[in-house]
Amino acid sequence: MQLSKLSLALVTLFGILPSSVLGQEGEKKQTTTTQIAQSSDYTSDFTSYSDFNSYTISTDASDSYPELALVERNKKNKKTTRSKSTGTNQVKVQKTGSASSNSGWGSASKPSSVRKPSKNAANGAGVAGSVGPLTSLSEKSNICDITDYGAVAGNETDISTAITNAFNNCVLKTSGSTLRIPEGNWLMTKPVVLNGGTKWAFQIQGLITCSYSTSAWSASSYNTAIVIKNANDFEMYSDNGKGAIQGNGYVYRITSGEQHDEGWMRLVRIVSSTNVSVHDLILVDSPMYFLVVYLCTNVEVYYITIRGGNTGMTDGIDISGYNYFVHDVEVTNKDECVCVKSPSTNAEISNIYCSSSGGVSIGSLQSGANVTNIKISDVYNYNTNSLMFIKTKPGGSGFVKNCEFSNFYGYDCAFGIDIDQYWDSKSGSGGVQLENLIFSGFYGSIAAAYSGSSPTRGGVKIIGAYDAPPVDITLEDIVMYKNEGRTGKYIDVYQNAYGEGYELKPDSASASGYTTSITATAAPSGWTQPALPKWNVGSTGYGLTVSIPVYTPAVMWS
Ligand SMILES: *[C@@H]1O[C@H](CO)[C@@H](O)[C@H](O)[C@H]1NC(C)=O
Ligand SMILES: *[C@@H]1O[C@H](CO)[C@@H](O)[C@H](O)[C@H]1NC(C)=O
Ligand SMILES: *[C@@H]1O[C@H](CO)[C@@H](O)[C@H](O)[C@H]1NC(C)=O
Repeated sequence: MQLSKLSLALVTLFGILPSSVLGQEGEKKQTTTTQIAQSSDYTSDFTSYSDFNSYTISTDASDSYPELALVERNKKNKKTTRSKSTGTNQVKVQKTGSASSNSGWGSASKPSSVRKPSKNAANGAGVAGSVGPLTSLSEKSNICDITDYGAVAGNETDISTAITNAFNNCVLKTSGSTLRIPEGNWLMTKPVVLNGGTKWAFQIQGLITCSYSTSAWSASSYNTAIVIKNANDFEMYSDNGKGAIQGNGYVYRITSGEQHDEGWMRLVRIVSSTNVSVHDLILVDSPMYFLVVYLCTNVEVYYITIRGGNTGMTDGIDISGYNYFVHDVEVTNKDECVCVKSPSTNAEISNIYCSSSGGVSIGSLQSGANVTNIKISDVYNYNTNSLMFIKTKPGGSGFVKNCEFSNFYGYDCAFGIDIDQYWDSKSGSGGVQLENLIFSGFYGSIAAAYSGSSPTRGGVKIIGAYDAPPVDITLEDIVMYKNEGRTGKYIDVYQNAYGEGYELKPDSASASGYTTSITATAAPSGWTQPALPKWNVGSTGYGLTVSIPVYTPAVMWS
């Protein structure tokens, strides 16, 4: 709609883009689950192993759209077979703001009271009911202090046995208990798996350091320092601002010379649990993923600070399940910020701050994908790979439908909306059906190359599958351009996607497939260059080979 105000040049993509394919990570085999299970074990890390988007922000214009060469190959011998649009998306999308709202997101602080889920979107996206524990902390007044079970402070003696004993002999014996790790420095040298437990809390008031080991953490199949499993009415938290877990991932990197390894430890995993909250914790330098919430129901995650190394496989929060609300979270890393995994039904993710990160995403998805009614809003990005990324691989099945993405802000990010159905440079037929997705209000700047003029990136990059294209897509209010000094081209790409807004073909269009790209040579009307967010920690994040501080800078949620 604003296109007429731009200075535009329509170009044919093929022939001018480099065909180099960027290196990708290998991927762990996917575990397919079609319904929420309450009692089974799940040890998978979802499909995260290749989820690091290798579009690193660089000054090199050559790292652009590696998939397009592949897509061109896939196009041969393939017909677009579109699902019939349901037309559910005819609801009028509310205008969400204007580019001038860029001015307000550079700084951030704790809201005056804990946020409630917002109203569901017009297409139903959002939570489905109350989230979090059923009873308040005052009803969990039976204190199970780890020092009563043999733990010694001082960061010299392993506390994992004391945690397990406090859980088995106190929490499980008395409903309404709080397992307490008091203020102080504590050492963990092996994992704990706390299985079962109803109406309980896990209060972490001090700093837990996980010792370096490439073997000790796999003593539990989860390979994770703290696993909570089959809990109900559960709250994991700190109330003194000091609850933290340090993974010292940099030691793994220095020692091995590698950036990540499937065998390295994760920090926290919540599995098959119900009526849960996790809040006010600082998670630092996990060698691998930070917080994995797997197949849980009625979950609230908030006031979480994640400080990770500047590398892949450091996903901040990976989450799946039914009815969850993730909000007020800050992540610095170089992989997923908050990532919706399948199956996920009815969720809100909002007020998320991603610094030097992969950004917020759904995926990667392949077979049996089941992602519906997800509402993601108010996401603030500094130097991320995209503002909102949906990634699926060909050969997949299932769907992502009835979702709304609104009010995303970015400073110098590789892409804005990034939908990629040939993710990980995979070829093949079939795909995850994307349907009834509303994108509304994307603001800020794209990190086009600093030098050179070859096409690089844009606010919209939609690479739909030729044989399973996205339908019923709405694009509204996209106000993005590149910062001053960025001389590479700003290019939006639309391929095989149907719906309403900008260069999408209407749902009624004949199904033959298409690719359109738009080069913008001037900022769209109303665009102003965003201010550098105060909460960014620099374009290389926390680095890789030095210790990452736990309490500095002060967390947003203090
Ligand atoms: C998707 O997940 C929801 C929630 O668990 C479930 O009710 C539904 O049956 C699933 N649908 C499919 C097709 O697997
Ligand atoms: C705790 O001990 C570990 C292992 O000895 C060490 O690397 C770490 O720096 C210590 N942390 C604190 C906060 O003292
Ligand atoms: C979780 O809470 C809901 C109410 O919000 C309740 O209906 C459900 O039974 C609880 N789950 C369990 C396993 O108790």
